[in-house]
Amino acid sequence: MNSNRKLIFICGGSDCKKCGSKELRKEIQRETKTGELKGSCKIIRTKCMDFCKSGPVVIVGEQIIKKATSQKVFTQLKKS
Ligand code: FES
Repeated sequence: MNSNRKLIFICGGSDCKKCGSKELRKEIQRETKTGELKGSCKIIRTKCMDFCKSGPVVIVGEQIIKKATSQKVFTQLKKS
């Protein structure tokens, strides 16, 4: 595995799913397969991360993104 790949952890727990984590994951997957982010990220679906009230929850690097949107995730990816 390319060690420079950034890991994106997306909660797949039921509360986050209700808040749209599945759609968010698909959107991020689509974006990271094309364009400038192609091949630079690895998406990992996790179990509940215990931030259910703030779903969908995504972790990029050491940053926890609560109420995540694709925009917030891509902004964080560019920073990290
Ligand atoms: S379901 Fe996502 S943090 Fe609990």
